Amino acid sequence: MRAQELIESLGLEPHPEGGYFRRIYTSPHGLATESGERPTATSIYYLMTDAQPCGRLHRNRSDILHFFLEGDLVEYQLLDPDGGRSVRPLGGAEERHLLVPGGWWKASLLPEGSRYALVAEVVTPGFDFADHEFAREQDLPLDHRPALRPFLG
Ligand code: GUN
Repeated sequence: MRAQELIESLGLEPHPEGGYFRRIYTSPHGLATESGERPTATSIYYLMTDAQPCGRLHRNRSDILHFFLEGDLVEYQLLDPDGGRSVRPLGGAEERHLLVPGGWWKASLLPEGSRYALVAEVVTPGFDFADHEFAREQDLPLDHRPALRPFLG
């Protein structure tokens, strides 16, 4: 299976949000942020497979750029800081990149018929777990809770 080949050839490990990843870049340049010193950018490979098609809803203080590398269509559930919900495609015959600005809630889904997807993520300022938060039901606007409940993990 292609996903297994990618896990082995790219040296990917299980990610706490589901799926597999490996850090491929950490900028040697530091940046002072409100929450402390961070690298100016970090980057990972991120692989989703249909063994676990649904990622957990989470947000990060940093901007996250996603680039589609290989595989099938991914759908991202997004919720902006003003409570606007959108569903955005990445990959397949559709978009090749997706920007999720800092502070937006995000969950990924491999829809019916998608088997796997390999994406690259660039996080700026660089990724730090201190900037990362999983959503709880009470964090979400009432009107979007039914649609986003499956992504609460
Ligand atoms: N999500 C996006 N970038 C990263 C990273 O560098 N490490 C981890 N654990 N998760 C990420």
